[in-house]
Amino acid sequence: MVCIVTGCAGFIGSSLVDRLIAQGCRVAGIDNFSTGQHQFLEGALKNPLFRLIEGDLLDLPFLTQAFFGGDMVFHFSANADVRLGTEHPRRDLEQNTLATYNVLEAMRANNIKQIVFSSTGSVYGEAAVIPTPEDAPFPVQTSLYGASKVACEGLIAAYCEGFDLQSWIFRFVSILGERYTHGHVFDFYKQLKTDPAKLRVLGNGKQRKSYLYIQDCLDGIQLAVEKANDKVNIFNLGVDGYCEVNDSINWISQTLEVQPSLEYTGGDRGWIGDNPFIFLDTQKIRSLGWVPKASISEGVVKTVEFLKSNEWVLEAR
Ligand SMILES: NC(=O)c1ccc[n+]([C@@H]2O[C@H](COP(=O)([O-])OP(=O)(O)OC[C@H]3O[C@@H](n4cnc5c(N)ncnc54)[C@H](O)[C@@H]3O)[C@@H](O)[C@H]2O)c1
Repeated sequence: MVCIVTGCAGFIGSSLVDRLIAQGCRVAGIDNFSTGQHQFLEGALKNPLFRLIEGDLLDLPFLTQAFFGGDMVFHFSANADVRLGTEHPRRDLEQNTLATYNVLEAMRANNIKQIVFSSTGSVYGEAAVIPTPEDAPFPVQTSLYGASKVACEGLIAAYCEGFDLQSWIFRFVSILGERYTHGHVFDFYKQLKTDPAKLRVLGNGKQRKSYLYIQDCLDGIQLAVEKANDKVNIFNLGVDGYCEVNDSINWISQTLEVQPSLEYTGGDRGWIGDNPFIFLDTQKIRSLGWVPKASISEGVVKTVEFLKSNEWVLEAR
């Protein structure tokens, strides 16, 4: 079994690579290192089961060649930064939607029939139903990132129908843990390292968000791929709860033993398109037997501990 992992040097992709090779799969990892880190692949590169193919998903002839001999694709590359969408309106379309189209075309050319896709809870926009189940309507998009991922999901489903592919689409909440390189814990850590006495918080700190620890995320993905067998399998992944940004600030401050004064930028959202309340209904994946092991606070603390012992990532992105 040869698994192809796109975004293999990223936070989630590299963690998936390590797990797949530990389970004895041969892995061909593809990355252009735009946000990925060579250090995350240090272990994998020592393993003969892993092969790194450096290149860009937007280059279809390259991708078609890179997919040769693959059995299944884990498509985990993307522009994963939701916040900066309006500064680069083209980026989400290219890095997410067009890259996914290329992945599907390269699969078709190589007769690869199975794809696992990292989507996002952002596809629900500002959900009318909370906790939000997989079949909730999402008529209005609030971020270019979410919009681009909706388009990816649509393309994948249409290729499943049109070219007899099978897919597993995962809508994650924000993921935390080792190798985390973007998001609020990263931003707060970076600020507190510069000045432990002061923290600037986007919004009013009362935004309610759900998070999930990386290893629980990978457990969920692997279980669903093993057990769900529809043509298009869609699963939310997140813990059964949420916290306020202010709670997370407390956990981070306690772990770092600092007591910063907080300066809020104000408003009920941190940036244009920020969703002030994210909480996904995960009954569907739980019915397969999945239960996340780490709580949100444990995930935050593990992330801070990772950043403390890997401060090089602060400069790498
Ligand atoms: N981290 C989260 O909280 C989160 C939440 C929901 C969904 N997701 C999704 O999970 C996936 C992985 O996210 P992540 O947090 O690991 O992000 P990341 O930025 O750490 O990883 C993305 C990887 O893809 C690579 N890449 C990007 N564009 C590429 C291109 N054109 N060609 C080749 N490689 C390219 C980058 O170099 C990087 O290694 C993404 O699809 C993201 O949208 C992440």
